Amino acid sequence: EIVVLDDPRACGRAVADAVADVLARDTGRPPTLGLATGSSPLPAYAELVRRHRDEGLSFAGARAFLLDEYLGLPAGHPQSYREVIRRELTDHLDIDPAAVHAPDGTRADPAEAAADYERLLAACGPVDLQILGIGGNGHIGFNEPGSAFGSRTRVATLTERTRADNARFFDRPADLPHRVLTQGPATIMEARRIVLVATGEGKRAAVAATVSGPVTTDVPATVLRDHPHCTLVLDRAAAGER
Ligand code: GLP
Repeated sequence: EIVVLDDPRACGRAVADAVADVLARDTGRPPTLGLATGSSPLPAYAELVRRHRDEGLSFAGARAFLLDEYLGLPAGHPQSYREVIRRELTDHLDIDPAAVHAPDGTRADPAEAAADYERLLAACGPVDLQILGIGGNGHIGFNEPGSAFGSRTRVATLTERTRADNARFFDRPADLPHRVLTQGPATIMEARRIVLVATGEGKRAAVAATVSGPVTTDVPATVLRDHPHCTLVLDRAAAGER
């Protein structure tokens, strides 16, 4: 499903609607959200914070799982994804902080951290709604081009393009790690519903390749074409309408 809206704020409202749906449903298990970082979901997170504050949207009893994390940043580093999600979203909600999980990028053995995260997801899953952004090269999470569709949470190495794209978040770009922990395409595909949000002209080529190019590991987001309930929420610029 492809939804094209006027601007990033409208996209944020659409993503927030999908989250509210999950929170409203009584499935007999905790509502389980998959959270992405990057700038694309920020309007959605701002909208969720607003709905919690002004409309009483409650996250009590919900759980959340982050998609990915940098390796080797010290605990509490402002750009670690755990910190970003805390600052932008979960600190402003009534979700139990202990129910917000991220791959642990501070562990001495990152492969073990990846395996532990997979085990936790398997025990708590499936994710009811996975929110995704998309990289300019079509990556999802930190699954760069070439990532096997069957791969699961693991250590991965960033391309120079992604490092250059993400350098803007760091005071000292050289501090941006080369290695990360990321859920794999196979992990992501287990979510019951996926909403990918892409805004701005810079995402146009990646979105076009995702929607109408061949399904290929060269464009990791094309794996989503085989998902039974995946929505792309695009602004006009990302959709190529202006
Ligand atoms: C990072 C994240 C991705 C995100 C991508 C796009 O690499 N690991 O999950 O989708 O950036 O970021 P932005 O939304 O800032 O363009």
